[in-house]
Amino acid sequence: MLPLRQYRIDSRTRDKFADTKVTAANFIEALFITDSKNEKTEITGFPDVYRYGYDTVIDRIDSLLDRGIDKVLLFAVPDKNKKDDSASYAMSSDSIIPRAIKKIKKIFPSLTIFTDICVCSYTRHGHCGIVMDRDVDNNATLTILARMARLHAEAGADWVCPSAMMDGQVEAIRKELDSRNLQKTSILSYSAKYASGLYGPFRNAADSSPSFGDRKTYQMDIRNSGEAIIECWSDIKEGADAIMVKPALFYLDIIAKIRREFYNTVLAAYLVSGEYSMLSQAIRENTVPSAYREAVIAIARAGADWIISYNTDILLMHMEKEL
Ligand code: PBG
Ligand code: ZN
Repeated sequence: MLPLRQYRIDSRTRDKFADTKVTAANFIEALFITDSKNEKTEITGFPDVYRYGYDTVIDRIDSLLDRGIDKVLLFAVPDKNKKDDSASYAMSSDSIIPRAIKKIKKIFPSLTIFTDICVCSYTRHGHCGIVMDRDVDNNATLTILARMARLHAEAGADWVCPSAMMDGQVEAIRKELDSRNLQKTSILSYSAKYASGLYGPFRNAADSSPSFGDRKTYQMDIRNSGEAIIECWSDIKEGADAIMVKPALFYLDIIAKIRREFYNTVLAAYLVSGEYSMLSQAIRENTVPSAYREAVIAIARAGADWIISYNTDILLMHMEKEL
């Protein structure tokens, strides 16, 4: 018999031997920004998550920084009348994200800003690229994504995060940034992003549901596992500085597999809107009070360095209490 219970004798001892540690530094808070000043609006099916204006988001970031969370991922929620078929509002240096970056950086210079690089919230049809013949055209979309990444980098984004799942999107962005001497901006690629049903609340928040069809011609088939390695490998080869698995909680096998394969690369996992909403409901009803804590620990234990989600200050708070 091995005396294993000695490691569990009391909470101090358990803390000492716990090999998964999650701190504020592991979290990235996703934020939805609108073209307004003082907005703070609720989102259907997305408990305690809001859309913020340029001013109200400052208060939110302030309270995150108070808890030590110093990384944010920005998503734009353009007005309906700004949307068209070519995502032209995403091509303007005066649009939501470049403006938000400048304003936020001025107030919080030490904050690390990540921005989503995709056009689904800027297009009328809601697809992640330029549609031709009822499907997204890969190469026409690359030009748009590269230009968008360049505008964010010029505004001061620390990381740009291509999420459109177009082939060659990292290479196109890398080339564009390099040719304009924007090497201070790094690339976190949504490398293994699955065509999941867990993005519903996000699409309400960003008003980015496809008006026809679905995203299965570009996002990964949920039945595939080995393909995730090829996606990560090709992104790293194209110049990604960090990679991502998305969703996280139902895809822990993928996180663990990617971690084993790419032990030197920074790996992010996205606890997506549908996952967050399920957990949040279980906590609100008090049926599973440990839901946040166990979910976050599972993602970290599987091998993720960064966890992207919503109300990460609350997630962090749950890390500190044993339930
Ligand atoms: C846009 C994008 C989506 C998410 C992040 N970036 C939605 C989608 O692909 O439809 C989902 C995030 C979440 O559900 O929390 N490309
Ligand atoms: Zn998209």
